[in-house]
Amino acid sequence: MSEPIQFGVLTVSDRATRGEYEDRGGPAIRDYLGRVVKSEWSDVSKMVTDDVPEIENALRQMCETCCVVVTTGGTGPAARDVTPEATEAVCDKMMPGFGEAMRAVSLLKVPTAILSRQTAGICGQSLIINLPGSPKAIAECLDAVFAAVPYCVDLIDGPFIETNDDHIIAFRPKHARRPSE
Ligand code: MTE
Repeated sequence: MSEPIQFGVLTVSDRATRGEYEDRGGPAIRDYLGRVVKSEWSDVSKMVTDDVPEIENALRQMCETCCVVVTTGGTGPAARDVTPEATEAVCDKMMPGFGEAMRAVSLLKVPTAILSRQTAGICGQSLIINLPGSPKAIAECLDAVFAAVPYCVDLIDGPFIETNDDHIIAFRPKHARRPSE
């Protein structure tokens, strides 16, 4: 039997790491994946402080086994918000469409969505996607991009991700679909 597909979930937060508040972003990402991903999957989850080297190390490690790594937090304009910089440092190429789409949808909900510098990129055979720290941003942002995630993973030679059609219908061009689809 094939191994379950692995997803990385990285919470980036000084305060959650110090225990000053509970991490709600990581659980919200895992809940989302539980609802949307039909393939068998497991997660590698971690929490780090808002430090570029720490974030980079965690991302590199997760990208060794995870086809998709979702981060939450550290995307804003404050001095300690450095998740996009760490993401860019580990990526071979950036995928700016993800950030654009997530901000566009988020802006319809909250004017401060413009403050997020969230981005995405390819690190080896993994797709990294940044989300803001707000727990309610998780589903709003992932809903905006997830239909494109399975085909993106196909294109970087990752596993075939199947989605629950009642939540997200993965879009694959006709030539890339399985014969049963
Ligand atoms: N996007 C969505 N969908 N929902 C939100 O509540 N919060 C915004 C923005 N994007 C928000 C959002 C706010 S207030 C900030 S400061 C930025 O994300 C950056 O958040 P971060 O530094 O926690 O990543």
